[in-house]
Amino acid sequence: MMTMMIAVLPGDGIGPEVLRSAIDVLKKVAPDLETVHGDVGLECFSRRGEYLPDDTIDLIKASDAVLFGAITTPLKAEGYRSPILRIRKEFDLYANLRPVRNPAPGIGLVDMDVVIVRENTEGMYTGDETVDADGVDLRRRVSRAASERICRFARELSESQGRKRVTCVHKANVLRKSDGLFRDVFYEVMEGSDIDSRDMIVDAAAAALVTSPQDLDVIVTLNLYGDILSDEAAALAGGLGIAPSANLGDRHALFEPVHGSAPDIAGRGIANPTAALLTTAMMLEHIGRADEAASLRGAVTASLSSGHRTRDLDGDLGTYEFTEQVLSRL
Ligand code: NAD
Ligand code: IPM
Ligand code: MN
Repeated sequence: MMTMMIAVLPGDGIGPEVLRSAIDVLKKVAPDLETVHGDVGLECFSRRGEYLPDDTIDLIKASDAVLFGAITTPLKAEGYRSPILRIRKEFDLYANLRPVRNPAPGIGLVDMDVVIVRENTEGMYTGDETVDADGVDLRRRVSRAASERICRFARELSESQGRKRVTCVHKANVLRKSDGLFRDVFYEVMEGSDIDSRDMIVDAAAAALVTSPQDLDVIVTLNLYGDILSDEAAALAGGLGIAPSANLGDRHALFEPVHGSAPDIAGRGIANPTAALLTTAMMLEHIGRADEAASLRGAVTASLSSGHRTRDLDGDLGTYEFTEQVLSRL
């Protein structure tokens, strides 16, 4: 078997802290994988004058999968283009897959097992803003092609996972043509499927996530709604420290926790690495290592279930102490 190479991009803030846990765990469950570190983000910019250097792009190209931490976005930098958005777009990682479930029984405010499938290349994220004397115009793109492939992705995922329902989330009552197109394409794509297909307006979906997440099951939605709903769902299921994600294209794949660089807790060794560890499990599954993925998930759940928790989950362990608990159960 050829050695697989994982590009590791820790980034800023708690990114390097939680990826350190992820790499230690990876070395234990899949020691044959080669890991190669690359630079990205604000700290990289301060050192090298670039947020996403060419050698990092080359590393991603050469990799079998990317493990990404988090980056800090400067709000006022002239000409700034978010490296993660650039990577998603340039590598055509069109499906942002965000499964949200309680990482262990008793954790979280609401019991849920929801999969959010987020369109990852267009919508409000075109970044196409034009400034005039009085304000800013934003051109937001919803294409038939992108809508079709994300809805097809959601259908195939739902069928392969034996899910009961796919809910298309939109705002077609206001954005009649753009979100209307997304909704129409969704029903076209779902035609002939045994999966129950429904649609819901995004504000109502935000409420339903709290009151009846089981009725949503799989959500397929546009870029910005998926961003917002995935933080909401994560918060309900145990917090941002627990939610993993995958950015998938036909040729490349990048795995990252849903959370950001958390500057408010960075550098203190207290971040919850659960999201990063479950992200690593998603990556292992993607590269054909389902057994290792299952054993990693099992070790995380067992650690949490036996009361080993970081502070965000009302425990008292640091990032590394929690990681040691997981390592000891592998
Ligand atoms: P955030 O997700 O970084 O943090 C929100 C809150 O959740 C904070 O209170 C933080 O302490 C907490 N939190 C997040 N992850 C945690 C963890 N693993 N363990 C314990 N607590 C955790 O969102 P933010 O504060 O709005 O953004 C901070 C920076 O991160 C911004 O510059 C933003 O642009 C960036 N960001 C990057 C990514 C990414 O790289 N993919 C994603 C989201 C935000
Ligand atoms: C996420 C993040 C990103 C997004 C930011 C950092 C550009 O919030 O991955 O959820 O909005 O997609
Ligand atoms: Mn987000």
